[in-house]
This record gives sequence, C-alpha cells and structure tokens, in this order.
Amino acid sequence: MKVPFVDLTTVTQQVKADYLSAVSALLDKNHFILTEEVAAFEQQWAATVGTKYCVAVSNGADALYLALQACGVGAGDEVITQGNAYNASVTAIMRTGAVPRFADVKADTLTLDVSRIEPLINEKTKAILPVHLYGQPNDLAAITALAQKHQLKVIEDCAQAHLATFEGKLVGGWGDAGAFSFYPTKNLGAFGDAGAVTTNDEKMYREILARRDLGQVQKNDHRYLGTNMRCDPVQAIALSLKLNYLRANTQARQAAALRYDELIAKISGTVITPVGRSPQAEHVYHLYAVQINGRERDAVMATLIEQGIQPAIHYPTVVCRQPFYHGPKDSCPVAEAAAKKILSLPLFVGITEAQQQSVVDALAAAVRTSSG
Ligand SMILES: Cc1ncc(COP(=O)(O)O)c(C=O)c1O
Repeated sequence: MKVPFVDLTTVTQQVKADYLSAVSALLDKNHFILTEEVAAFEQQWAATVGTKYCVAVSNGADALYLALQACGVGAGDEVITQGNAYNASVTAIMRTGAVPRFADVKADTLTLDVSRIEPLINEKTKAILPVHLYGQPNDLAAITALAQKHQLKVIEDCAQAHLATFEGKLVGGWGDAGAFSFYPTKNLGAFGDAGAVTTNDEKMYREILARRDLGQVQKNDHRYLGTNMRCDPVQAIALSLKLNYLRANTQARQAAALRYDELIAKISGTVITPVGRSPQAEHVYHLYAVQINGRERDAVMATLIEQGIQPAIHYPTVVCRQPFYHGPKDSCPVAEAAAKKILSLPLFVGITEAQQQSVVDALAAAVRTSSG
C-alpha cells in the first residue's frame, strides 16, 4: 500500500464549502488588506492560546523575526536556541543582526537540555528561543525561570506545536512572545502562507502591528523600519474555519501516534524507538519521529520509499553545518548524532489503521534487510 507523508484531503474538505462561500462574500465587499476577517482571526487565536494579543502575519519565519525585533533583539546581541532548531528559527535570529548560539538537546526527547543553556549566557545574550519540535513542548518552566534569573527574553517557536501544553499551560503564552506558522501542513494550516505572533505585552503588540505594515502606526506615520508582512484575509478566513476542527484534529493525531507506539512496540524495542515524551508536556504530534538505532537510517528510508511509503527527516543536517552558515558552531553532539538517526513517519488527520500497519510492516522489513 502506498502511504504519502502528508495527505491534506480530510482537513481541506472539512472547510471547503464554508471557505468558498466566505471568500465569495469577501469578493463582494472588495476589501482585501487587513480586513475584519484578519482581526477576527487574531482575536480567536489569542483567545485559543490564552494571550492578550495576537498579530497575524505573512508566515512563521516572519513571525519569529518580528517577535525577536519587538523583544529588542538586534545587532551585537546573541540569542540561544537549540542544536536541532529549524532553519527558519536560526535565520530569524540572523535577520535581526544578532548571532545564534546553540544549546544541545536531551537524547531521549530531543528537547532543549536546559543545563546546556547557562554556560552559553554572557553579557551579549538577549534572549532564548526554544523550538517546540515535532509538537512536543520544551521545559518551559525551567527555561522561563532561567530567563528571569538572567533577565533574558523568551521567544517560543510554536510552528509545530499548536495547542501543545507544558504543565497544562499552552505554548505561545509562556514566553514574552510565541511565533506560529500556519504553513498548509501544520496542525493549523492555511491555504497558503500565514503566521502569527502571540504576546501579553501591549507595547510589543503595538510594535509588531506596525512593523508588519511598513512600520506605520497609522497611515503615513512610519515609526519603525518595517516591511510588508501582512496576513491575507483569504488565509485568515481559512484559519478561522479550520480552528473549529483543531481540537478534534489534534486528538486524531494523538490517537494515530498512540497506534504507532503500539505497532512499533510489537516489532522491536531496540532498533526503532519513538522519540521520547516529557511527562509534563502534552505532545500534539505535528510529526511522529522515531530513531533508527544500529542500522543505516538512509538505507532504511530508501527501502521504505521503494515500498511506496514516504517518510521524511526533520532535519538531516543541523543548521550550523548548512553551507550558508558561517557563525559560531557550538558543540551539540546529541543533536548531531540524532540527525543521523531520526525518521518521521507518515502522520496526518485521516490516516487509516491499514496505512499505519503498512508503514510499520515496511519499516520492520526495512530494518531486517538493512545492514548495521
Ligand atoms: C519549527 C519551525 N519554525 C519556523 C517555521 C517557519 O514557518 P513558515 O514556513 O510559515 O515560514 C517552520 C515551518 O516551516 C517550522 O517548522
């Protein structure tokens, strides 16, 4: 059986009819920029995350950049993120003129090893940028306590973690700002690019509102150097409609992840291990990642692809080893080792039990035939 990495059919069909009629109504109004639909989604997302404010923007990468800017991060500063951060998390730091530093992650959960942050803190350090990778929150209690101790800002990269919680509190409301991506495949995805920043700080909120719109606080009053990072109303409409399904769709992802856990436990406890879970966190499974131990991950992946199963790797190369990157390369042996072993299995709303069984059967066969 062929299993794609992602199939958006279910989540698209859930809202398609309502979306088309809402877009039709928008066309009849002939207003297309920062309309009431954008403001409505901002209120809904702030209420969902539990923050006072939300600014909808162009995409997740810009959300991170704007959040960092509003936290006062700029040239001469350093921002600590994690060794396995996504490219956009690191480049957002670099776009402000600041320098990224990398703390290693824990081998089981692949979340930040908080004990590795403090040794990187110096007089240039301005902020910490945890990335809630795969949908699993970092230890936000420890990170925010450390930030408070050193008077640092915290910007959460929540692009993969809509509705995830740590100690019962939603991500995006722990730090000074939360940055979300609504890339179509995300747990809450638009029909194109979109993103948002959440915050409880009114000053930051007003600055981000202005910066996403050419830096203007009102027409022709440009207080900041800003560019166009506005969210389109057609995306806000999609997001408001899809938000109605987010809770149920998250539960569907969690149920599918549990099914993978059970199927994988039956075939092998040593060669294939699901990435570990933190007991204080609620994981929302944007991705279901396993580690392939004692086998060539790339060979296993190639065999799966031959069988029609489409896995992915998040991410095969740590950002500081990418060709574009010339900044400090802090030692992150755990993140580097994990990059060679991780494999994300197909997971999407609507994946069937038969599809999951096929993935795990093919995985079991692939590890049997690949060399150690
Ligand atoms: C962890 C993380 N951060 C940032 C981004 C950037 O979001 P976008 O693609 O909407 O710019 C993504 C998604 O691609 C992501 O997964």
